[in-house]
Amino acid sequence: MNITVIGPGAIGSLWASYLTEAGHSVNVWSRSFDEQIRIQRDDHDAIELANNNINQLNNADVILVTLKAPYVTQVLSTLVEHINSDTILLLMHNGMGTASDVQQMLPANPLLLATTTHGAYRPSSKQVLHTGQGKTLFGAVNESGQQCQFLVDVFNHALPTVDWHSNIEQALWNKLAINCAINPLTALYAIPNGHLGQSQYRAQLDSVIDEVCQVMQAEGIEVENSELHASVHDVIRATSDNYSSMQQDIAHQRLSEIDFITGYVVAKAAQHRIDVPSNTKLYQAIKQIEQSW
Ligand code: PAF
Repeated sequence: MNITVIGPGAIGSLWASYLTEAGHSVNVWSRSFDEQIRIQRDDHDAIELANNNINQLNNADVILVTLKAPYVTQVLSTLVEHINSDTILLLMHNGMGTASDVQQMLPANPLLLATTTHGAYRPSSKQVLHTGQGKTLFGAVNESGQQCQFLVDVFNHALPTVDWHSNIEQALWNKLAINCAINPLTALYAIPNGHLGQSQYRAQLDSVIDEVCQVMQAEGIEVENSELHASVHDVIRATSDNYSSMQQDIAHQRLSEIDFITGYVVAKAAQHRIDVPSNTKLYQAIKQIEQSW
């Protein structure tokens, strides 16, 4: 297949590399002005991929968007006229809230959302390390997206496991809850994920999870409070030495995904008239840091 990866950061470069290895014709769209970019995964040979090539974008069967949530609408709006209406759009990022904008911009395109637990790290712009094996879920946003379940086989062949989820919202909310619990707290206190297991963070962590759980229930998502707490703690343990993506963004003074993580929950809570003071405080604290730069 002809696949364009928009936003070849750590996860985008990982997929670009595996999809190329699986025999697909992959190109990228990035901030770089170079016509080609080089990606070397772990100790494999480096690959060269065309970059910012309008013809290839126009001929793409699939566009995998691995931009961070705050950049999705902004970047796609500059490319709309070059995107064919048959091209499948697949959004893969932390947080929620971009799909409705993308659907408005490109209403005819099949639109899918994905969530992944693979770990990837980019020590330099040309190198990507696959730091943790994970699972990926795809699901449809619109009717034409429902016809694209075959894509699971294509991507699963390149980097297993990939499964189809008939209610991707459910999976995205579960991931969102984990990000709401881990990301802002680790960013605020500048700590690795594992430190959140310490007793001094317990009350704040518990109340963030309780609030998210209430909002999920109001949204009609199937969720059990104790299971949500358990899955947050599982991720804290499994990623104990890692610094969360938001911690890294804040430490490097980069725009974080707070609006699409905690901000999304706070906005949904307001719609349901649910008080979420712990999440609101964290949201404001991260926004304040970003505004102070
Ligand atoms: O955003 C992140 O860093 C990750 O989604 C997670 C699960 C919090 C692990 O660090």
